[in-house]
Amino acid sequence: MTSPLFIVIEGIDGTGKSTQARRLAEWLRSQGRETVVSREPTDGPWGRKLRESAATGRLSPQDELEYFLKDRKEHVDTLIRPSLAEGKVVILDRYYFSTMAYQGCRGFDPDEIRARNEAFAPRPDLLLILDLEVDDALARIGSRGDSANEFERRDALQRCRGIFLSLQHEPFVRVIDSSGPLDEVTARIRQTLIETGLASA
Ligand code: TYD
Repeated sequence: MTSPLFIVIEGIDGTGKSTQARRLAEWLRSQGRETVVSREPTDGPWGRKLRESAATGRLSPQDELEYFLKDRKEHVDTLIRPSLAEGKVVILDRYYFSTMAYQGCRGFDPDEIRARNEAFAPRPDLLLILDLEVDDALARIGSRGDSANEFERRDALQRCRGIFLSLQHEPFVRVIDSSGPLDEVTARIRQTLIETGLASA
C-alpha cells in the first residue's frame, strides 16, 4: 500500500480550482498513484440542497453554515477517511477553509468555524490557495463588478480572499499565483508538490 496524501485546493470563485484539481489528479495518476478527486459542496443530499439554494433563494446564514457542516461530515465519513485509509491520494476542490472564508463573510468567526470543523475533519497535508486579484477573478467568471449586485459580490470576494490569505503562513499552506495561462498555474502547482517532497518530478 502506498502512503495516503490529502491535498485541498481553495480560492475565490474564478481562480480555476476545478481545472487544476483535475490536472493535478491526472499528473499524480500518471505517476502510478491511485487518486480520488472530489468537491464541496458534494453531490450528496446536503450538498444538493446547498446548490439548489443558490438558484431558489439563499438559506439563512445559520442554516447555510449547518448544511455545509452536515455535508462535510458525510463527505469525511464516506469518502475522505475511507480513501485515505486505503492509501489513496485525495484531492478536494474546496473544504472547510471555504466555510471559514465564505461563512466568515456572512458574519461568523472564521476561527470558530475552523475549530468546529477540525473537531471532525482531518487537516490536509497540503492546502493550495489559488490566488488572484478579485477583478481578474470576476473577469474570468464573466462579471464586470460594476452593477449594485456585482459590487456587493466584489466586496464579499475581497473579504473571502483576505480570509484565505490569512492562512498563508501556516506550515501546510502554499499560495499559488493563479494569474496568467492555465498551463503556467499547473506548472506552479507541480513545482510546489515537488518542492514540498509530496511528488516526484
Ligand atoms: P463552487 O465550487 O463555486 O461550485 P460550482 O462549481 O458549482 O460553482 O462552490 C459553490 C459556492 O459555495 C461557492 O460560491 C462557495 C460556496 N461555499 C461556501 O459558501 N461554503 C463552503 O463551505 C463551501 C465548500 C462552498
